Amino acid sequence: MRKKAAVIGAGNVGATAAMRLAEKGLADVALIDILEGVPAGKALDLTEAGPIEKHDMKIVGATGDYEAARGSDIVIITAGIPRKPGMSRDDLLSTNMGIMATVTREVAAVAPDAILIIVSNPLDAMCHVAYEASGFPRNRIIGMAGVLDSARFRAFIAMELNVSVENTHAFVLGGHGDTMVPLPRYSTVAGIPITELMSPERIDALVERTRNGGAEIVGLLKTGSAYYAPSSAAVEMAEAILKDNKKILPCAALLNGEYGIHDLFIGVPVKLGGNGVEEIIEIKLTEAEKAALDHSADAVRKLVADIRRLS
Ligand code: APR
Repeated sequence: MRKKAAVIGAGNVGATAAMRLAEKGLADVALIDILEGVPAGKALDLTEAGPIEKHDMKIVGATGDYEAARGSDIVIITAGIPRKPGMSRDDLLSTNMGIMATVTREVAAVAPDAILIIVSNPLDAMCHVAYEASGFPRNRIIGMAGVLDSARFRAFIAMELNVSVENTHAFVLGGHGDTMVPLPRYSTVAGIPITELMSPERIDALVERTRNGGAEIVGLLKTGSAYYAPSSAAVEMAEAILKDNKKILPCAALLNGEYGIHDLFIGVPVKLGGNGVEEIIEIKLTEAEKAALDHSADAVRKLVADIRRLS
């Protein structure tokens, strides 16, 4: 049977995710936004690319009408606004919280069995909002962060060593942002840990570039943030779920004691399949790695406390 995906927010990340879902033949797509005409226009444009890209996926766009998302197997939520001049972090957080809560409730009403992939920032905090607004169990709320961060790390490793990206593997834990925790000893090239292939100084430089990966792109684009790699990352997660292929990927998941962390969405390796998060994989961490993860968890906890204060 054909699968169905909804993408909420038809901006840069959302529209590119819709394109990737359709061009990979993964699902029919409903693209929803509050903007008049934009989702319908982008959906039609993508449909007209179908004959050339050789897919028969049905792509529809809707403005504020969630009927289009009815019965979706998977929903990727990218809705939100970027920070505008004069806006404080709290203003941004409270606006995006409101948007996330509203769209999640709308989605839950028409697609009660869907698995939600959250993309809007601040990511880990938005996962909490979606979890509470949807009432869905924890296996069906997953945040996209680690797949993107580890893809960035892999791209930098491949550039550094002049090897194929396909030979690279990288592990990144923690929250999405300054406190993320790349794990060099679990990051490999053709199975060889990068700690045997690069000096500690070069590894530190790549880790730092990965941490600032989002900011580096914003600095270059000036208007807007990254969307090619973020949409690829969200669609890799969607593919693992839609195909039930039990892929282990770093994602933000709600921890209930795993890694000694309770009631917090944070990036950890998870097994993604037809039921969403099917398992949280606990890997052994050194003391320093555990301390870095705890530090990252503290930063996410502060954001969650801000959500409670603002709601
Ligand atoms: N319902 C639906 N769509 C909404 C709503 C809402 N209530 N509020 C805003 N949107 C839409 C906007 O109209 C816009 O089209 O969300 C879209 C966001 O698109 P962009 O501004 O292009 O942002 P984008 O680059 O796609 O990033 C989206 O993903 O990576 C994160 O930090 C990024 O939080 C941001 C999100």
